[in-house]
Amino acid sequence: MEVKTSLLDNMIGVGDMVLLEPLNENSFIENLRKRFDHNEIYTYIGSVVISMNPYRSLPIFTPEKVEEYRNRNFYELSPHIYALADEAYRSLRDQDKDQCILITGESGAGKTEASKLVMSYVAAVCGKGQEVNKVKEQLLQSNPVLEAFGNAKTVRNDNSSRFGKYMDIEFDFKGDPLGGVISNYLLEKSRVCKQPRGERNFHIFYQLLSGASDDTLAKLKLNRDFSKYNYLSLDSATVNGLDDAASFRTVRNAMQIVGFMEDEVESVLELVAAVLKLGNIEFKPESRVNGFDESRVKDKNDLKEMCELLGIEQSVLERAFSYRTVEAKMEKVSTTLNVAQAYYARDALAKNLYSRLFSWLVTRINESIKAQAKTRHKVMGVLDIYGFEIFEVRDNSFEQFIINYCNEKLQQIFIELTLREEQEEYIREGIEWTNIEYFNNAIICDLIENNQNGILAMLDEECLRPGTVTDETFLDKLNTICAEHQHFESRLSKNSKFLTDHSLPHSCFRIQHYAGKVLYRVEGFVDKNNDLLYRDMSQAMYKATHSLMKQLFPEGNPAKVNLKRPPTAGFQFKASVGGLMRNLQTKNPNYIRCIKPNDKKAAHIFTDSLVCHQVRYLGLMENVRVRRAGYAFRQSYESSLERYKMLCKQTWPHWRGAARDGVEVLLTDCSVPAEEFAYGRSKIFIRNPRTLFTLEERRRACLENLATLIQKIYRGWKCRTQFLLLKKSQVVVSAWYRRYAQQKKYQKIKSSTLVVQSFIRGWKARKILRQLKYEKRCKEAVTTIAAYWHGTQARRELRRLKEVARRKHAVAVIWAYWQGLQVRREYRKFFRANAGRKIYNFTIQRIMHKYFLGLKTTMPSMSPIDNTWPARPFNFLAGTHSELKRIFHFWRCKKYQGQFTEEKKAVYEEKLEASEIFKDKKALYPSSVSQPFKGDYLEIQKNPKYQKLNSAVEDKVLLADVVNKINRANGKGAPRLFLLTKNNFVLADQKTGQVKASVPLPDLTSVSVSTQSDGFFALKLKEGSASAAKGDFLLSSEHLIELITKLHRTGTAAAQRDQINIDISDEFLVHFNQDKVCVKFIQGSPKNGTNAACKRRNNRLLEVSVPSSP
Ligand SMILES: Nc1ncnc2c1ncn2[C@@H]1O[C@H](COP(=O)(O)OP(=O)(O)OP(=O)(O)O)[C@@H](O)[C@H]1O
Ligand SMILES: [Mg+2]
Repeated sequence: MEVKTSLLDNMIGVGDMVLLEPLNENSFIENLRKRFDHNEIYTYIGSVVISMNPYRSLPIFTPEKVEEYRNRNFYELSPHIYALADEAYRSLRDQDKDQCILITGESGAGKTEASKLVMSYVAAVCGKGQEVNKVKEQLLQSNPVLEAFGNAKTVRNDNSSRFGKYMDIEFDFKGDPLGGVISNYLLEKSRVCKQPRGERNFHIFYQLLSGASDDTLAKLKLNRDFSKYNYLSLDSATVNGLDDAASFRTVRNAMQIVGFMEDEVESVLELVAAVLKLGNIEFKPESRVNGFDESRVKDKNDLKEMCELLGIEQSVLERAFSYRTVEAKMEKVSTTLNVAQAYYARDALAKNLYSRLFSWLVTRINESIKAQAKTRHKVMGVLDIYGFEIFEVRDNSFEQFIINYCNEKLQQIFIELTLREEQEEYIREGIEWTNIEYFNNAIICDLIENNQNGILAMLDEECLRPGTVTDETFLDKLNTICAEHQHFESRLSKNSKFLTDHSLPHSCFRIQHYAGKVLYRVEGFVDKNNDLLYRDMSQAMYKATHSLMKQLFPEGNPAKVNLKRPPTAGFQFKASVGGLMRNLQTKNPNYIRCIKPNDKKAAHIFTDSLVCHQVRYLGLMENVRVRRAGYAFRQSYESSLERYKMLCKQTWPHWRGAARDGVEVLLTDCSVPAEEFAYGRSKIFIRNPRTLFTLEERRRACLENLATLIQKIYRGWKCRTQFLLLKKSQVVVSAWYRRYAQQKKYQKIKSSTLVVQSFIRGWKARKILRQLKYEKRCKEAVTTIAAYWHGTQARRELRRLKEVARRKHAVAVIWAYWQGLQVRREYRKFFRANAGRKIYNFTIQRIMHKYFLGLKTTMPSMSPIDNTWPARPFNFLAGTHSELKRIFHFWRCKKYQGQFTEEKKAVYEEKLEASEIFKDKKALYPSSVSQPFKGDYLEIQKNPKYQKLNSAVEDKVLLADVVNKINRANGKGAPRLFLLTKNNFVLADQKTGQVKASVPLPDLTSVSVSTQSDGFFALKLKEGSASAAKGDFLLSSEHLIELITKLHRTGTAAAQRDQINIDISDEFLVHFNQDKVCVKFIQGSPKNGTNAACKRRNNRLLEVSVPSSP
């Protein structure tokens, strides 16, 4: 079968530079230009793809194109990045070889775009399925996220990668993607704080401010206006062709697809906002007593908002901007920061925060995309690292130095694997070979990375050295140590050749990189390499309640203070680049060499000098020469024989001899021309790709034949097995069927016999039935006739009997009517005279009966104070009703009284008497009703104090109380004991108990009291009696009502006369010796106190003022 060679046919220029004739630099560039002008941006050098940046979208990345290149040989179609991706993917899948795709070129040459094309191609051609599609989608969507945070607009590229990225995509044995791992290399973090003229900060800042909703911005305390933020350069805030707002939506969507939780996205945006806020914090000096300036935050608003965002205590951060704690061997010294140092600390914090956030993002994405299965993976690595960078207008600094070092290493690996390795292999394998000269940049790599005297080692040494370290001391060191190096140039080096080179300033050194000379300014090298973040800062960040923030600054944990210096930035980078190189060397490399056609980022412009420069430093001419001189394909004899043994009868299916002999037999058998191959020591070398394709095509055809053979045998076997199975089944089926048919026939005969039998039996039975029915009908006829006859007889008799009965009844009715008539006539007169009266009496009796029975249920309670009584039912019962109420009341009072003891009765009698005397006459009375009459208030019998007194009175004491004896002279009262017995009352001294006066009750004529609520009373004695010698008594008592009642009751009984006179008035006369004094009661105001007060007005008047009752 003829191989299709569209790579060679109908080509614009030459698709593979190996076929270029004549080969020189001009024809090389011319070929590139010609192809570029015809939109052919890809050209091969053997298996290496040269990619020219078209700076416009071309219709060559469509799904149709993917299908076109899918499973096609590399040289089969016109050059395309898809062909390289397909080749890499198929050799990974079919030959189990790990692959790496190395994309190199300077900034803006199209590396990132190329890497995305490779990834999207692989995603399109590999397996499908829900799980696989999810993995693919996550791998692809990691790009927008990382680009938003790690790319920025530079003067060379509007979407320049400011970090290096290497992504391992892992596949299973079927070639389905399982997941991936991303490694990132040194983010250019200085960009966070400062951007060169014409460049921007990282995209995410602009995307957030343009694309976030008003709500989100308010939550993040941000303003949409870029000019409000010191960290955002304004001169190129908007970039043509970049829609930041739309990109923001894409990034959020991508984050969601990759598997970020909503709160994680929010945390990330909060940190981005915090960086912006941090940039706005400014400082002012504040003089201190020691003469030094100390920095203070100028306007605390941004600081406050930032602290609120991150949950940091404002004072902690504020302190970290003013002081710095240095710890050394258990000692802590706190020094103040001046304004410059505060700005330095702020920027260091912003840079560290952002770069750590970026690394966290990479780790988080890795968590999402990592392969779940633990099985062995095949790996395809895609390397897209920042391109070689030289700035003519501005200074190249530490970042460019690092970036260019990385590119040197990549060039080195290219040289190693394509130029040197290839040439060395020919020699090793004993193939005839004329050496081809090329520039090996190992010497430049050594200048930078040598552990003893490399530039990075010098820088580290300088950073770690005690004493004053500045960028100048570092340059001095370089000047002494690297002076002799042929790729190092410095004005002050010992190498006098540069002394007069004015293009080389004093504070700079120059390195001749493989891609050209680069002038580096040493300013900032030491700082950037040290990458110092004050510990106070990281401790302040660790104190944040924002969990992501805390996670980013683990060294701020006071429990884990580490006094060891962290490794320098240069050291870390060198180590990670070393790791990357070792990783790449284990894989099969595929190269994409990106070339930038012009410096204007414009389509259709091809600048010869620029392209020529890149072609030179990329070593593409050497690459072509080596390719042309050598062989396109090589393989060990064993694997070659294994692959193609089916092409020759002798080697198929097994070759028993040595592998090399087998290959020889095979190639001879296939009539491959002798100049097309060479035998090495362990490998066969094939010169022309076409020869290889011919072999591949024949192999494919052979495989098809083999497949047909296998199919044929398999089908035969399958049909035979099936036939035998069918035959066996048929025997079983027919046996079963015959049995079934016989069974059916027997059943049929059996059922027919039964039918015939049943018909005959039926016919006989019907005959007998008919006979029996006839006999039965005859019997029934006789019975019916007899019944009718008896019926007729019976009805006739019944009718007769009914007629007799009717007549008897008629006679009885007529007789009764006649009797009734007689009786009514007899009694009419008698009824008129008596019946009305009887009915009346009867009715009255019924009513009375009902009334009395009704009372039984409606009777009121037994309480004597219950006034209720059922309503009167009839007017004529009014008298009875009220009489009954009265009787009932007396009866229940009697019942109530019957419950009383004798003592209680006496008490109630006293109370009743008190009521008769005082009710409605004295204002004091109502308050006494509820007080029980106790009588002996002094407990005279029990109290030993009154023993003497007790013996002085003979009779039983009825009342014993303390009273006040009112002195006539001043109206004041003196306490006296007042005892009342059956025959007399006694006044005694309260303290001694000595009897002052004992008055027989018959001498008491009357008692005077006021109408008011006071306790005053006068005891008036019989004139001329012995007791009345000193006159009457004017006393007051708290138990006046009880005292007077008892006195009245006992006095009346003792004197056996009419009642003692009780005089109730507000003015009465009292005899004192011979004088008569008038006691007058007046109403006092309540404020005078609650007690009545007695005052002497004159010789003849005592005035008692009684407080009016409230
Ligand atoms: N194949 C392509 N088709 C269309 N435009 C392209 C293509 N490749 C690159 N470009 C354009 O060139 C610009 C720069 O490309 P890219 O970002 O890939 O450069 P780079 O080599 O990654 O640069 P850096 O090293 O700065 O990251 C892209 O933004 C795009 O506009
Ligand atoms: Mg890039």
